[in-house]
Amino acid sequence: MNILDIIERKRVGENLTKEEIKFAFMEYMEGHIEDYQMSSLLMAITINGMSFEETLTLTDVMLSSGKKMDTSKINGIQVDKHSTGGVGDKTSLIIGPIMACLGLKMGKLSGRGLGITGGTIDKLESIPGFRVSLTSHEFIHNLNKVGFTECEQTPEFTPLDKKIYNLRSVTGTVSSIPLIASSIMSKKLATGADYILIDLKVGNGALIQNKSDGVKLANTMIEIGKSYNKVVIPILTNMNRPLGDNVGNALEILEVLDILKGKTGLLRNLCIELASNLYSKVKKINIDIATREVTRVLDDGSAYTKFLEFIKEQGGNIDALETAPNLMPIKSITSGTLKDIKAKSIGSLVLQLGGGRKKKEDHINYGVGVVINKHIGDQINEGDTLCYLYQVDNTDYSSQALEAFTIVK
Ligand code: URA
Repeated sequence: MNILDIIERKRVGENLTKEEIKFAFMEYMEGHIEDYQMSSLLMAITINGMSFEETLTLTDVMLSSGKKMDTSKINGIQVDKHSTGGVGDKTSLIIGPIMACLGLKMGKLSGRGLGITGGTIDKLESIPGFRVSLTSHEFIHNLNKVGFTECEQTPEFTPLDKKIYNLRSVTGTVSSIPLIASSIMSKKLATGADYILIDLKVGNGALIQNKSDGVKLANTMIEIGKSYNKVVIPILTNMNRPLGDNVGNALEILEVLDILKGKTGLLRNLCIELASNLYSKVKKINIDIATREVTRVLDDGSAYTKFLEFIKEQGGNIDALETAPNLMPIKSITSGTLKDIKAKSIGSLVLQLGGGRKKKEDHINYGVGVVINKHIGDQINEGDTLCYLYQVDNTDYSSQALEAFTIVK
């Protein structure tokens, strides 16, 4: 078999055989196929798509590239949750502690930032000492002890996805439906949860830009789940605006703490909606009862205590979390009503500030980012601060920042 023939076949829109998919991806994993060849195949897949059979095969190849969790050692019902990625999306760090407080076990393998979208692993790494790399033994131990754990794909779990994910991040191939579906589902299947909630982000700040692609991705993941006897619960949510006020790794951890300590608003509401849907499906209870339970553990502070327990268990020192030293207020140059805050512009700005990667080997500045100071519908006067930039230098980013805000008279 020959990688050039495989690239050619996909380039002209043909379906690849199981053997071809296995050959191309496993040989890449073992270092026998170069980055530039895999990039070319990924681009052909992004342009021409994959059939369901091809997507299922790719999921299986990703899954088989590593170990599967021995879930028999987990005491309790194991659930999982994944977001397809957005700007300011820190929901799993809020939903995980909620699920643990409700007696479920939520263990997640997560990714790093992809394009302009942030990744939970980068966010967690902003906490000094936090270990994102766990063995399967530690993963199970943490699940049984704390009820919530989150780590990166180690060489043990879906190592192929990790390699492909890093390459996609820098080759313009992040928005492909089969590549997203196989990436997410292989990680979910490796950890073995029976119920998998997918927060499927749709909008200008997400990998998926329109609803019909969102529905296609949701159906693909439901079908992959069925093939493995898993319940996949996809919920399409808006990602035209950043989620919450803080965007940037350490800043997002601070906002997680705020929400768990009682901050209200759209981010809290979304977390309650997602958590309640998952809980009601698992427990087979009415959504209103589930919502009451979810809200209770948020309001009584137990989810906050659980989050701190999770951080401590993985070695993190939350008190040592640092944000970038230079705080730059961005002032409005007009007056009117704030109509829109574009997630895509805020995501690109954080990338420019150094909060994400433009190349695979880029290092992240964990402390940089944006804190939004005004909300949609607010009346704005000229000179009001729309947002604050946390920077490591004094570069003037005000024109890029202002682009994100639409203010109408
Ligand atoms: N999250 C993942 O794990 N993979 C993707 O491809 C997109 C979002």
